[in-house]
Amino acid sequence: MKIALITGVSKGLGESIAKAFLESGIKVLGISRNENKRLRKIADKNNVSYQHYSCDLANMSGLEATIEQLKQDMDSHRPSLLYLINNAAIVEPINQVHQLDNEALLYHFQLNTVAPIILMNQMLHFTTIIDANFIGVNITSGAADRPIYGWGAYCSSKASINMYTRTAALEQEEQKTGQKIIAFNPGIMNTNMQQLIRSSSKEAFREVDKFKAYKEKNQLRDTDTVGGILIDILNDEASIENGKIYQVNEYF
Ligand SMILES: NC(=O)c1ccc[n+]([C@@H]2O[C@H](COP(=O)([O-])OP(=O)(O)OC[C@H]3O[C@@H](n4cnc5c(N)ncnc54)[C@H](OP(=O)(O)O)[C@@H]3O)[C@@H](O)[C@H]2O)c1
Repeated sequence: MKIALITGVSKGLGESIAKAFLESGIKVLGISRNENKRLRKIADKNNVSYQHYSCDLANMSGLEATIEQLKQDMDSHRPSLLYLINNAAIVEPINQVHQLDNEALLYHFQLNTVAPIILMNQMLHFTTIIDANFIGVNITSGAADRPIYGWGAYCSSKASINMYTRTAALEQEEQKTGQKIIAFNPGIMNTNMQQLIRSSSKEAFREVDKFKAYKEKNQLRDTDTVGGILIDILNDEASIENGKIYQVNEYF
C-alpha cells in the first residue's frame, strides 16, 4: 500500500496535491489546523481512505505528538511506499529585516523550516525501520534564490529548506538507500498566500504592485494544474533525481 502524508491540506496547493493522490487511489494523511471536508468527499467517491490530523506545526509539542500518532497509525498499514509532501508554509512576517518582530520570526521558522525538517527526518527514520520506500518533497519557492525587499524571513526559510533537501539527499545517495528527497518550486499560484502578499504596504514590500498585476493579468496559476505536475514527476519514480530542486516553470 502507498501512503501520502501531506501538510497544509485545508486549502491552496496542499488541497490540490491531496486531491490528486486520492484520485489516483492513494491513501492520504493530511495535516493542517483546519479540517478540509471536501477531501473526505473525494476520498469516499474514489473509495480510498483519508485521515486528517489537526495540528499547529509551529507548536513543537503538538508536532511531536502528531508524529507519534502518525507512526502508530501507519505501523498497522505497513506502507510499501511513503510520500511526504512538506507543503504548509507562510510568507509573513513581511517587513524590512530591522523591523521584524521576534515572536513572528520564531513562528515563521518553526513552521517553514523546523517542522518540515523534523517531519522529513522522522519519516526517513520510520521508513528505514519498517523497510518501506520513501520519497520526500519540500515545497519551496523562487524566493529561495533571490533576495526580495521585505521577504527576509521567507527568502531565508525557503533557502534553508533547499539546502536541507540537498544535504539529506546526498546522505541517502552516498548510503545507496534508494530513499529520495527533492524540492519543488510551484511558481506563482492563485491562493490565499498571494492575497496576503497583495495586501502588504509598499513600505514593507517594494514589489507589491508587481504582485497585484499578476492577479489583474490573470498570471497566477491554478493549484490543480501545479499539483498535477508534481504528481506526474512523482509517478515517474525511476527518473526522480535525488536532491533536485524541481521548477514548475520547466513543465510549461
Ligand atoms: N501561492 C504562491 O504563489 C506560492 C509561490 C511559491 C511557493 N509557494 C509555496 O507553496 C506552498 C503552499 O502555498 P499556498 O499558496 O497553497 O498557501 P495557502 O493557500 O496559504 O495554504 C497554506 C496551507 O498551510 C497550512 N498552514 C498554515 N499555517 C499552518 C500551521 N501553523 N500549522 C499547520 N498548517 C498550517 C494552512 O492550513 P490551516 O490554516 O488550516 O492550518 C493551509 O492549508 C507553500 O510552501 C508556499 O510557500 C506558494
